[in-house]
Amino acid sequence: MNDLRTAKKKNKNIVLIGFMGSGKTSVGKRLSMILKREFIDMDDYIEKREQMTVNEIFAQKGEPYFREQERELCKRLANSYNKVVATGGGVVKSAENIAALKNSGIIFYLCSTPEKIAENLKNDSSRPLLNVPDKADKIRQMMKEREPFYKNAYDVEIDVSNSEIDKTVEYIINYTEREAEK
Ligand code: S3P
Repeated sequence: MNDLRTAKKKNKNIVLIGFMGSGKTSVGKRLSMILKREFIDMDDYIEKREQMTVNEIFAQKGEPYFREQERELCKRLANSYNKVVATGGGVVKSAENIAALKNSGIIFYLCSTPEKIAENLKNDSSRPLLNVPDKADKIRQMMKEREPFYKNAYDVEIDVSNSEIDKTVEYIINYTEREAEK
């Protein structure tokens, strides 16, 4: 294999951003399986490192501590390749995080609607920021506030509100293959 081909094997990371419940983890797992790339789920990674759930980290150490862990992980990922990364929904709030993730990856924004997110998360209690009496309202409010951050961060936007996981996965694979050919 010549040097060019070898260099191309060092594929850029596939980085998934989007609101909680938009399907980043499911899409990421499937991509990693098909493409045989390492999968990093940021929340999962932090939970394992801290030996605590995200809920416990927020309750016992506070949100700023969790954000610090996210920041550190983004920095580490800035110099990696060939991975599929499912970010936490709040990662985009830091420009520093986005710069780090962009350094080594293509950023795909899984964009959905508040209704679909509320439906996906109706039986979920693992998101500390959504453990409130009116979850649907909180989702609407947070999505409105977050949207400019997602829009500012992505390279590719994918509407997943009416789309099957397989379609999203296929789209991302085709896109990354085309990019690698360039
Ligand atoms: C958060 C999203 C969560 C998790 C934490 C905070 C957010 O990740 O990082 O509960 O601020 O949007 P998911 O998007 O994977 O649910």
